[in-house]
Amino acid sequence: MHASTTIDVPETFVATYGADRPEAQVWLAELPRLGGSFLERWELRPDGPAAHGMASLVLPVLRADGAPAVLKLQQLREETAGVADGLRAWRGDGVVRLLKHDDASATQLLERLDAARPLSSLDDGETALQVLAGLMARLTAVPAPQGVRRLSDIATAMVDATAQAAPALRDPVERKLLETCAATVRELVGDAGDRLLHWDMHSGNVLAGEREPWLAIDPEPLAGDPGFDLLPALDDRWGEVVASGDVTRAVLRRFDVLTEAVDTDRRRAVGWTLGRVLQNGLWDVADGKSALEPTQVAIATALLAHRG
Ligand SMILES: Nc1ncnc2c1ncn2[C@@H]1O[C@H](COP(=O)(O)OP(=O)(O)O)[C@@H](O)[C@H]1O
Ligand SMILES: [Mg+2]
Repeated sequence: MHASTTIDVPETFVATYGADRPEAQVWLAELPRLGGSFLERWELRPDGPAAHGMASLVLPVLRADGAPAVLKLQQLREETAGVADGLRAWRGDGVVRLLKHDDASATQLLERLDAARPLSSLDDGETALQVLAGLMARLTAVPAPQGVRRLSDIATAMVDATAQAAPALRDPVERKLLETCAATVRELVGDAGDRLLHWDMHSGNVLAGEREPWLAIDPEPLAGDPGFDLLPALDDRWGEVVASGDVTRAVLRRFDVLTEAVDTDRRRAVGWTLGRVLQNGLWDVADGKSALEPTQVAIATALLAHRG
C-alpha cells in the first residue's frame, strides 16, 4: 500500500504556532497529511519551501497545467468564515485571486504572488503608505456580500464587553481611554456601514504581483465602515513614526492620507479607529494583560486631541 502524500511543515511554524492551545496542536499534528490530501485532490505539485505567518502555512505549488499557485492551510476560525465570499466579491481587483476553496477546512488555492517582495520590504515608507491607501480605497469601495461578518455585531459586542474588561487595566488613564473608545463606538454602532473591509491592511499583507504592481493578501473580511480598516496602516512601520521625532504629527499625517483616500468622513474614521484600539485593548485584557500597547495609546491619544 502507498503511504498517503504529506507536505513538509517548517520547524519555525511548528515552534511558534498555538503552543498554548491544545486544539492547535491537534491541527498541527494533522497538517502534513491535510496538506498532502489537498495536493492529491487538487492535482498540485510542491514547488519550493513553505512560507508561513502567525496563522497559516503557505505552500508554493504548480497546478496540473503548470501554472504557479499557493496552497494556504489554516485552522478554521471565526475570522476565516467570510474569506472565500470576500475574495470572490473582490474578483482579484487589488487583491489576490482565489482559485479554489474548501469550506470545511478553510483551505485556499490562491494565485501565486512574489513572496520575496512584500510591500514592507520597500525602503520608502511614503510610497508604501500611498500604496496601502490606494489599495484600501479600492477594496473598501466594494459592497460587502452576504456571508461576511458584520461590524455592527462586532462593535455591539465590544461595547458590551468594555465595562467588565476596563478594570483589568492598571493605569486609570488607560481605563478612561478604553471607556472613551467604547462611548465613541456606541454613537456609531447604529450606522456601521456595509462596505467590504479587509481588516488587516498592513505592508506585510501586500505582495508584488505581475498583473498589478501590488496586491493585498490575507483578508479577514467584514461588512462595515471603511474607517474600521485604517489602523493597521497607522501603526505600520512604526519605527518610522517614532524616528520622525513627532509621533502625534506623523500619526495625523498618515490618518489624513488614508481618510482622503477612502470613502468615509473624518468623524467616523476617528470613531472607528478608536474602535480598533478598543478591539485590540479587549483582546489584550482577554490575554491577561493589564496595560494597553503603547502604540495603540499613542494613536488614540493623537486622534482624540485632534478630533473634528
Ligand atoms: N498568494 C501568495 N503568493 C505567494 N506567497 C504568499 C501568498 N500568500 C501568502 N504568501 C506567503 O505566506 C505568508 C503568510 O501568508 P498570509 O496569507 O499573510 O497568512 P498569515 O495569516 O499567516 O499572516 C506571506 O507573508 C507570504 O510570504
Ligand atoms: Mg499575513
